[in-house]
Amino acid sequence: MDPLVRKLCAGQRLEVGEFERLIRGREQVRELLASRAREVRTQVYGDRVWIRGLIEFTNWCKNDCLYCGLRCSNHKVERYRLSEDEVLSRCRMGYGTGFRTFVLQGGEDPLYDPERIAGLVRAIKKGFPDCAVTLSVGEYPREVYELWYQAGADRYLLRHETADPEHYSQLHPASMCLADRMRCLEDLKDIGYQVGCGFMVGSPWQTEEHLAKDLSFLQAFRPHMVGIGPFIPQKDTPFRDRTGGTVELTTFLLSVIRVMLPDVLLPATTALATIDPDGREQGIRAGANVCMPNLSPADVREKYAIYDDKACAGDEAAEQLLHLEEKIRLAGCTMSMGRGDHIKMDGR
Ligand code: 5AD
Repeated sequence: MDPLVRKLCAGQRLEVGEFERLIRGREQVRELLASRAREVRTQVYGDRVWIRGLIEFTNWCKNDCLYCGLRCSNHKVERYRLSEDEVLSRCRMGYGTGFRTFVLQGGEDPLYDPERIAGLVRAIKKGFPDCAVTLSVGEYPREVYELWYQAGADRYLLRHETADPEHYSQLHPASMCLADRMRCLEDLKDIGYQVGCGFMVGSPWQTEEHLAKDLSFLQAFRPHMVGIGPFIPQKDTPFRDRTGGTVELTTFLLSVIRVMLPDVLLPATTALATIDPDGREQGIRAGANVCMPNLSPADVREKYAIYDDKACAGDEAAEQLLHLEEKIRLAGCTMSMGRGDHIKMDGR
């Protein structure tokens, strides 16, 4: 067996240079790693793939990330903000379909201030006490993360985007830095959240060395969840003419992450499903075990345009769970509607 793959499978630590060699030589080891990824996933979680209802409750954002269609300097996007009642009504509809995790995702919207988000979390936990609430609303002070945890939030998603500080600066405005992002992730973990980080694959200026640093960071930080998806250019951003990431590299990295962190909750992301109709299935075959269909009201889905042609119909729509279930079965797994907590964080 390839010595780097053997090391990875044995749970040994890899250096950044070794991750880089693994990525560069991926064609030789892709199948081996994918089958190993499926094996360890089965050992830890069985053949289950968990479903989360994604509610994109505001597309207002004060940030200006160069890759994102919701950046504040994009005046072409039609902004919306769901009311608390609208979010709760989506939860009710999702609960009826069987969802037991709701992911509240939004831009950094100053009008959805910390108290208001805390109120929303409390209302959801009160209405649906057997459900997990995941927040994904960006960078805040530790006190705010504590407030939301007290309100009942179980999990938090905050992608680190790239573990290389210079590369981070190339993707973000001068007001943002990697150190702040890392501080947030440390705080979230320390408070007790199940924490997800992650990065885009094929973002502008990204090299194999950057990706190796991302893997090395995951190896050290040991997040409970990792979200990765291909970069997809968005027409109203400065990166409109850049090339996007590939299914090939994304699925390889999914397998590496699964083998390196056997009990990680790993979504086959919407971005992957957007660049290839078969993307989600390939993601699951590579080792993913989470899908996050869209539970937002149908009329706002198109407005949450972080990248072009975002998939939000068909299997990406919460209304089509039967279809998604069939896709998951085709990928050799079973759709599971439980809360799907990380195996070492079984509820609170
Ligand atoms: N292509 C792919 N992913 C993107 N994201 C934002 N913009 C894009 C894009 N153009 C990802 C970022 C962010 C998450 C919500 O979506 O990684 O953290």
